[in-house]
Amino acid sequence: MTVKVGILGAGYIGGVHARNLRRDERATLVGVADIRPEAAQRLAGEVGTRALPDLGALLHEGAQAVYVTTPNAHHVDPVLAALGAGVHVFSEKPMATTLEGARQIAAAASRSKGRYQLGFNRRWAPAYAFVRALIASGELRPAMAHVKMNRGELQSPPWVSTTALTGGFLYESTIHLLDMCRFLLGDIAAVLCRARTTAYQEPDGFAAILRCASGALVTFHSCAHATWIFPFERIELFGPHQAVVTEEMERVSMSPGLGREIAVRDFFQLPMEEKWGYRLEDRKFLDAILGGEPPAVTAEDGLRATELVEACYRSARGGTEVALPLA
Ligand SMILES: NC(=O)c1ccc[n+]([C@@H]2O[C@H](COP(=O)([O-])OP(=O)(O)OC[C@H]3O[C@@H](n4cnc5c(N)ncnc54)[C@H](O)[C@@H]3O)[C@@H](O)[C@H]2O)c1
Repeated sequence: MTVKVGILGAGYIGGVHARNLRRDERATLVGVADIRPEAAQRLAGEVGTRALPDLGALLHEGAQAVYVTTPNAHHVDPVLAALGAGVHVFSEKPMATTLEGARQIAAAASRSKGRYQLGFNRRWAPAYAFVRALIASGELRPAMAHVKMNRGELQSPPWVSTTALTGGFLYESTIHLLDMCRFLLGDIAAVLCRARTTAYQEPDGFAAILRCASGALVTFHSCAHATWIFPFERIELFGPHQAVVTEEMERVSMSPGLGREIAVRDFFQLPMEEKWGYRLEDRKFLDAILGGEPPAVTAEDGLRATELVEACYRSARGGTEVALPLA
């Protein structure tokens, strides 16, 4: 059996998913829709499907699953419409750009017969999956962490400097590593955050301390104007005389103890779709639809990540620690 899939948003990431799906014999692309007809036509031509105007047309073509790959502030409406129609939804991150939007989607996902999966692709990147496995096996017992998620600029794609479309800089790539903190260290109990505005018209630099329910402490840094100096993304985890350091999704170094050899896993040569977890997240979406298992990244995960972003903004505005989950 194949799943009929439609893509809403024919930009960069819509293309990544469409190319992955074209390679998976369990999926049939029924169309690509975009508010810019030329974008829909370009991608549809590339992946051998039809260019369509909107979500309604994708559903009319019989889409059983829809990828929502539009700019951040345009996720909630199509996701609610598709879930309301009983269609499976893969939504790019962020789930929503407000807490209210995220809660609406979580409620709709729990009611719908369609499955909802969110695009936190880094959970499936081999580098982060390896770190998670070290923790799950008990080999690494992280108590302290230092996490960085920088962007070089807010210039590409052009809408990323428009707060009304992004929801704010933290909803951009930063939300991936806020989710990663929770994925690796468990729920976050409280956030203390400071922010400043340096290069753009909104807060574009954040320094936070996350207190995990487990007791682990995270120093978290994110800035929007760092240039693309390597590594713009990095996690350092420290256990009792142990450390793990990632460099983007390229490399992981594990120091298992004093006086012991440091092991390095290097993923540099993997194709980008695999190294960044995109191929596996798309496979897992089809697994969830066809196999009936829970989605790989749930609405609950999306809601918790949205809360983390909002807690950072609230703490930065109020100057005090903010407890989670948010009231
Ligand atoms: N998980 C990741 O690693 C990752 C990477 C890149 C982007 N993203 C997310 O994916 C989404 C898209 O980002 P992108 O980089 O592909 O942007 P993009 O600008 O390249 O593509 C967005 C496309 O959506 C179209 N569009 C805009 N509004 C629309 C609407 N209302 N209906 C239909 N189409 C509409 C645009 O014309 C454009 O073609 C964003 O939410 C972004 O945060 C995630």
